[in-house]
Amino acid sequence: MKNNTNQRSTWNSQIGFLLAAIGSAIGLGNIWRFSYLTFEYGGGAFLIPYFTALFVAGIPLMILEYGVGHREQGASPLSLARIHTNTEWIGWWMPMAAMFGIMLYYAVIIGYCVIYFLLSLNLSWGTDTQDFFFTSLLQISDSPLNLGGLRLPITTATLFVWVICWVICYQEINHGIELACKIFIPLLFVLTLILVVWGFTLPGAMQGIKTYLTPDFEILKQFDVWTAAFGQIFFTLSLGFGIMITYASYLPRKTNIFGNALITSITNCLFSFVAGFAVFSVIGFMAHKAGLPISKVIKEGPQLAFVVYPEAINNLPFMRSTFGMIFFFVLIIAGISSGISLIEAFTCAFKDKFGWDRKKVVSMICIIGFAGSVIFTTRAGLMLLDITDHFVTNYGLIFGGIVECVIIGWILKSHKLRSHINTFKTSEYFKIGFWWDICIRFVTPAALTFILLKALTKELQAPYGDYPLDAVILFGVDWIIILGIVSVSLTFYPWKPELLKRKHIPEDEHLLT
Ligand code: PHE
Repeated sequence: MKNNTNQRSTWNSQIGFLLAAIGSAIGLGNIWRFSYLTFEYGGGAFLIPYFTALFVAGIPLMILEYGVGHREQGASPLSLARIHTNTEWIGWWMPMAAMFGIMLYYAVIIGYCVIYFLLSLNLSWGTDTQDFFFTSLLQISDSPLNLGGLRLPITTATLFVWVICWVICYQEINHGIELACKIFIPLLFVLTLILVVWGFTLPGAMQGIKTYLTPDFEILKQFDVWTAAFGQIFFTLSLGFGIMITYASYLPRKTNIFGNALITSITNCLFSFVAGFAVFSVIGFMAHKAGLPISKVIKEGPQLAFVVYPEAINNLPFMRSTFGMIFFFVLIIAGISSGISLIEAFTCAFKDKFGWDRKKVVSMICIIGFAGSVIFTTRAGLMLLDITDHFVTNYGLIFGGIVECVIIGWILKSHKLRSHINTFKTSEYFKIGFWWDICIRFVTPAALTFILLKALTKELQAPYGDYPLDAVILFGVDWIIILGIVSVSLTFYPWKPELLKRKHIPEDEHLLT
């Protein structure tokens, strides 16, 4: 239908856009990743760097990405190429790193959730949930370099996830993604609320919540906490993926960018905060049941949702299956509404540049995506995803954020984008001020560069997570380098000159100096 850039498809409604953007932001990151990071990094204390990162980098960059997409009307490569031809590469880097560094394993985790959803029907994970997860389901190998064959149930569940994403993205955005999010997001809110309220009624819940909210300030002195919090803000707000640029490119001209950016960012972080109660109350309940301190029952890392939660479900007094099914269903819809946003960013990037048909690109991406996910469904999968996630999130996304700030702050000049955003504002309350220029030109890039450099120094001291150095280099460092090379290579293919010309935008005139 609408294939060329002059005739872009648009959202059916503002609320449709907001739900889709919130759907992208709220994902496994809000429940699965947020809760294990919060526990790992000192409970309530983690909320301090987390909210600092939200205000220092999250909100200013959300405004930036919405503004760029709305002004340039393209996915990230076209939008950045329209700002300056030499900046196109970062427009490719963002969706590339997100697709091949995050989405490939992300689909596998949604696959785990599909499996656990089915297992909830009759709690077939048994009594030793740790043994079930590592030995029966993952059959985890002894090293990330020893792939040890496929785990077919996981591969099948992952295929199912890619097929669902394909079905949704195959349609134009207003029929596929917008419709899916209009159903998923309200459902997600209602079900999460049920989980939270339910969690509160469990004996011992308060102990868990106390752990969640009591800060261990000592831990703030460790620099990792800050890196993890900034990485998490990028991950959770889907920043540095090229997604928000793409979604905003489908917005109508008269749009409240600042208001939408605030609503998306704050709703997302509040959702994490609230969902945290559901997770921690259940952990408190488990500790109470086992008569152990919370620190003894909780597991660090990605297995929190798949080991601790099922065990807690086993111990519930009644309606265990229902509770389990709701929990894993919440994870599935949260994950899928994020996954589809990335497929869209990627599809739109190729459609813009090569003029390919949407259906063809979506099919191609889903096939390649599934093929790439297969490596994370091997017996070494969980370790590989931990390494890839660490490098791509903490370095790849943050690096993307710094470059975006430099391009908008210094090459385009931030006041031009600010003026664009303010020209199309829908009310005086949502006018962004000079503070935003200061953030984008100085504060945000300086904070991110500092975080990145500090993290790098630490990285050089010891291989991440005590994994063998070869594995860290292969799946962390090499991955990033290859994705970088591919992104730069894509810029060598020339644009059709008429594509690089933006439609006339009035606000530029009085600002061009
Ligand atoms: N914001 C998402 C989350 O928190 C991250 C994500 C977006 C992951 C898109 C994959 C694809 O889960």
